[in-house]
Amino acid sequence: MTVSISVKEKIFLKGQREVKVLEHVDVTIDQGEFVTIIGPSGCGKSTLLKIVAGIDSDYEGFVKIGNREVKGPGTKQGFVFQEHRLFPWLTVEENIAANLSLRNSEVRRQVHELIEIVRLSGFEKSYPRELSGGMSQRVAIARALLRDPEVLLLDEPFGALDAFTRKHLQDVLLDIWKERQTTMILVTHDIDESVYLANRVAIMSPRPGTVGKLIPIQLPYPRNRTNEAFQAARQQVLAEFEKTEEVHLLDGSGI
Ligand SMILES: Nc1ncnc2c1ncn2[C@@H]1O[C@H](COP(=O)(O)OP(=O)(O)OP(=O)(O)O)[C@@H](O)[C@H]1O
Ligand SMILES: [Mg+2]
Repeated sequence: MTVSISVKEKIFLKGQREVKVLEHVDVTIDQGEFVTIIGPSGCGKSTLLKIVAGIDSDYEGFVKIGNREVKGPGTKQGFVFQEHRLFPWLTVEENIAANLSLRNSEVRRQVHELIEIVRLSGFEKSYPRELSGGMSQRVAIARALLRDPEVLLLDEPFGALDAFTRKHLQDVLLDIWKERQTTMILVTHDIDESVYLANRVAIMSPRPGTVGKLIPIQLPYPRNRTNEAFQAARQQVLAEFEKTEEVHLLDGSGI
């Protein structure tokens, strides 16, 4: 589904003071498109994703999925939070199934398939306290994938992973994207990752947070990180990203 984002303003209260965190974020993401968002820490990426997910509705503007306005969280939008949120009293497989019943054989089959995909075989019966940060993150990713949402929102989903697992899961995500044609919006700090995955890279700048440039990455999939065209795209994104960092540092807000 097409995602239309039009956030005029998002304000947080810091004590008595109003802080404008987002302003004029106008982006339309096509059905089946893969958009990555990069931007300096604190520029409002998670805030924006929560708005698109329907978790935060305290802002001015609107978000539409297809032609339906997002009024709250729903099954159309899947969300993988920056800080993984697992139920501590449920096992890995129960966390992935969440409100779906593992007694249903189809659910069970899919849960086990996903456990294999995210490389957690052998940990089906483990509890979150027995997992590392990266393992918990992979449980959260599997949980979101099980629901097969039309739009999948991922907030630094691979942040806590080692390089090897990160690359594996990037490819898993691309396979799922290709197969299901899910519309993907993924926040990352990793410029390489943003270029490897995206049809377009959105560059967010801070204070107030807004999407400045959307850089199309017109390279065929699967992409090769070592070839020249990839490096050129990476340079282009890096140059734009550095511009936002300069602004960030010049106004003293980066310190
Ligand atoms: N619940 C909240 N109450 C008050 N201020 C908030 C709240 N959540 C976020 N903020 C503020 O909004 C701004 C943007 O936060 P946000 O988490 O969206 O940034 P981010 O771009 O995701 O950063 P990071 O890359 O570090 O995850 C920050 O200045 C933060 O302090
Ligand atoms: Mg964030």
